[in-house]
Amino acid sequence: MQTILITGAGTGLGMELALAYAKQGHTLILTGRRLDPLKSVVKDIHSAGGKAFAYQMDISNLEEVKQRVGQITAQHSVDYLVNNAGTGCFGPLTELGYEQIVTAIQTNVLGTIFLTKELVPHLLEKKKPKIMNIISTAGQKGKVNESVYVASKYAVRGFTESLQKELDGKIHVIATYMGGMDTPFWDETDHIKDKSRLRSPREVAEIIVNKDEELEIQV
Ligand SMILES: NC(=O)c1ccc[n+]([C@@H]2O[C@H](COP(=O)([O-])OP(=O)(O)OC[C@H]3O[C@@H](n4cnc5c(N)ncnc54)[C@H](OP(=O)(O)O)[C@@H]3O)[C@@H](O)[C@H]2O)c1
Repeated sequence: MQTILITGAGTGLGMELALAYAKQGHTLILTGRRLDPLKSVVKDIHSAGGKAFAYQMDISNLEEVKQRVGQITAQHSVDYLVNNAGTGCFGPLTELGYEQIVTAIQTNVLGTIFLTKELVPHLLEKKKPKIMNIISTAGQKGKVNESVYVASKYAVRGFTESLQKELDGKIHVIATYMGGMDTPFWDETDHIKDKSRLRSPREVAEIIVNKDEELEIQV
């Protein structure tokens, strides 16, 4: 059994991945900016007889990432990092606010890089360490009104594929691609009109957790 750190684990896909991995008997370290949703997932995992812990961590804040990784690794032996936290940025480029653009790049790209860089030295000490990066089909092809989000996910794809080579034989690095899911991700935008056509994050999570021996997962 492994100890798995998941970012953005209080809602959507991160929450479903946490519940699915906990069901398999793994210990979960749940992180996100808001503690309340994380605590509620911890409670659900405990009620089902599993083991989970919640830590507040804004991955876009380097000092906070460094401090929290120090605290988490002093208390737990993390073998598996799931970089799931992410944020959208949708609309024509000319209409996007700079603040929105910076938040998307800081969270999706820098946040993923900061946390991975801080945790890799710890993962390298483990027997069968893993990193999974939740990308998206937005990391595979350009899309209208998604230029900045797509740019952020192409960056995460490039980061992932490069680490697969750099850490080959040392850390198993997985790139995961999926299409639209019905999660709070879409709450602040009308980019997707009909959410009922989207897949459930639970269904996607259940497929992912059974395929994580692969290098690339396409759901
Ligand atoms: N929904 C889709 O259609 C879809 C499709 C393909 C890929 N994805 C990807 O799937 C991943 C999960 O998204 P989701 O659909 O499950 O949406 P979600 O429910 O909005 O989950 C995103 C999570 O990221 C956390 N988060 C956001 N900014 C953060 C930050 N700076 N630091 C730490 N945590 C942060 C949020 O929690 P806090 O606000 O508490 O921090 C939230 O729990 C994302 O990477 C997304 O790009 C989504």
